[in-house]
Amino acid sequence: MTGTTGTTGAALGAPAERREGRQKVTGAARYAAEYTLPGRAHAWPVPAAVARGRVTAVDTAAALALPGVLAVLTPEDAPRLADPEDATLAVLQGPGVPHRGWCVALAVAETPEAARAAARAVRVTYDTAPHDAAFTEHHRDGYAPQEAGGQPGRVEHGDPRAAFAGADVRVDVTYRVPPLHNHPMEPHASTAHWDGDRLTVYTSSQGGTTVRSTLAQLFRLPEEHVTVVAEHVGGGFGSKGTPRPDVVLAAMAARHTGRPVTLAYARRHLPTVVGHRAPTVQRLRLGAGHDGRLTALLHETTSPTSRVKEFVEYAAVVSRVMYAAPNLLSAHRVVPLDVPTPSWMRAPGEAPGMYALESALDELADVLGLDPVELRARNEPAEEPGSGKPFSSRHVVDCLREGARRFGWEDRDPRPGVRREGSWLLGTGVAAATYPVQAAPSTAGAQALPDGTFVVRINAADIGTGARTVLAQVAADALGVPLDRVRTEVGRSDLPPAPLAGGSSGTASWGWAVHEACAELASRLAAHTGPLPAEGIETRADTTGKADADSPWARHAFGAHFAEVAVDTVTGEIRARRLLGVYAAGRILNARTARSQFTGAMIMGLGMALTEGSTLDPAFGDFPEADLASYHVPVHADVPDVEAHWIDEDDPHLNPMGSKGIGEIGIVGTAAAVGNAVHHATGIRFRELPLTPDRIL
Ligand code: MOS
Repeated sequence: MTGTTGTTGAALGAPAERREGRQKVTGAARYAAEYTLPGRAHAWPVPAAVARGRVTAVDTAAALALPGVLAVLTPEDAPRLADPEDATLAVLQGPGVPHRGWCVALAVAETPEAARAAARAVRVTYDTAPHDAAFTEHHRDGYAPQEAGGQPGRVEHGDPRAAFAGADVRVDVTYRVPPLHNHPMEPHASTAHWDGDRLTVYTSSQGGTTVRSTLAQLFRLPEEHVTVVAEHVGGGFGSKGTPRPDVVLAAMAARHTGRPVTLAYARRHLPTVVGHRAPTVQRLRLGAGHDGRLTALLHETTSPTSRVKEFVEYAAVVSRVMYAAPNLLSAHRVVPLDVPTPSWMRAPGEAPGMYALESALDELADVLGLDPVELRARNEPAEEPGSGKPFSSRHVVDCLREGARRFGWEDRDPRPGVRREGSWLLGTGVAAATYPVQAAPSTAGAQALPDGTFVVRINAADIGTGARTVLAQVAADALGVPLDRVRTEVGRSDLPPAPLAGGSSGTASWGWAVHEACAELASRLAAHTGPLPAEGIETRADTTGKADADSPWARHAFGAHFAEVAVDTVTGEIRARRLLGVYAAGRILNARTARSQFTGAMIMGLGMALTEGSTLDPAFGDFPEADLASYHVPVHADVPDVEAHWIDEDDPHLNPMGSKGIGEIGIVGTAAAVGNAVHHATGIRFRELPLTPDRIL
């Protein structure tokens, strides 16, 4: 975990290179499935082949007769777990099948190939029940959830319906986002090993502290008997934010067989078992005066969840943040169906919510004959509309104006459908972006060694973001030492406990504790005379009560997205030509890794706009798109000129580094900017993603 950074001094903000970059590109970095413990065996799941029902028999004879097969775990004989808080982890605990793909048996063998062959040879008999996997916004089972993304499910101010009915100008539109899947480069995987009643797992996770507490609870162990290692993680985007069944199944199989066991999901397993972005149907009603000022904003969204647990895709929450509207309705509905359980996908809520809101706003600009940047500027709120709190900082109009300047927006002819280049129609679009500032309590240790170097220890997760690197920068800054004198240790549960890499809160949460531990260490060193003792000097900080304190401020990052597209009138193909984002996200702590986060998320937003989409087949109860040949993430040839810029913000109401989260905001407004550009190119509003040629023609 050492390595050169190419940068010393002036640590915060410097474009330091990822410390593990060389290990990754040379193959030296080890991922969860690559821990080749002596005697290691491999597990392969048997997914339920019906959409709803009960397992009545599992015939394992043919599977067990195959060479190299060690065991087949079934709901009858698998180890009994304590009831999990997350019901998706109650695997092999009973005969019930809540959806297709639910794990109904687990084959364990000497090799992955033998385990896969054994899984295919298991004969499962079901008692099939009628299922309902058809999502419609008017489904009779739909209900209004209490909570949506940790906030009230419904917020209503004024009299939105009457204000909308009486508005000078009205837009009433419904936007649809399909189910979406994360598909990280490294599919979910875990290697588990028992030593008596001590469990060690190597797992691909965004938060090892939660994995540890979950496993301790499920297997009825003291937490200190569980070790979780997640040193390198090949992406997660939310799907690895909580423990997934692979880590539970690997631990069960290892206990059952007495061998270390790896369960590495094949990519085709992921769509049903690791969560997805729930589809949304969002109705937006915007009422405004002729001057463009909103008088009513109604944002209502409906999404499905599974029968296993409630998950709400909280798409309407953004309407509590963005625009001044004296009459506001922001409300969610959820429909439980016999389908796989949805979960977090990069900017859950905000990404689909801002797609719909920012598209509807573009429609309003059109009706008013007003420039879409100007329309947004006219609706800047004095305080956060949902809560009435003042913003700690809010530079969304600055982002829009700076983006417009860089993009060349002022030359834009607003008329749709008039720019031709051969068979192509050209257009440009804009959308704003927002993402909340979050932080959770964390602990960190800092140590000064006699050789003048420092070690920072924290169970943070580096999921490819550069967390190790930026935490070293935070430490070097607080210590006032060059960056190359600081080493960081992350990704192991014997390090001080820390929250997950999620909600764009990792750096804020961990960095806060690292900053405090290092500031304390700096003052201890300043007071110290003579050489350091051999073990050095150590400090530890815990931000409980600070990072989780209620704030009188509404704290969010903001941004603006601009897109230029070409639409082929013969084939219906859409090519994005340029994407440009400008962000106001507090202080940027590492210019290089921050740019990667922004542009990576913009590319994910491009996929959301143009190519990505899963189809829940209601007859089948599952997604047919189970590989990268059918689920189309952008490839190099799809990715145009992508630029990310930022406005430096000096916001004293955040954390000691002055940073906001940057991991998710890049996806938030991208799809709307692309969609608005497609309208500008063609003159046609498409209100359902993705914008594939079959829809365009
Ligand atoms: Mo992110 S979807 O909160 O990991």
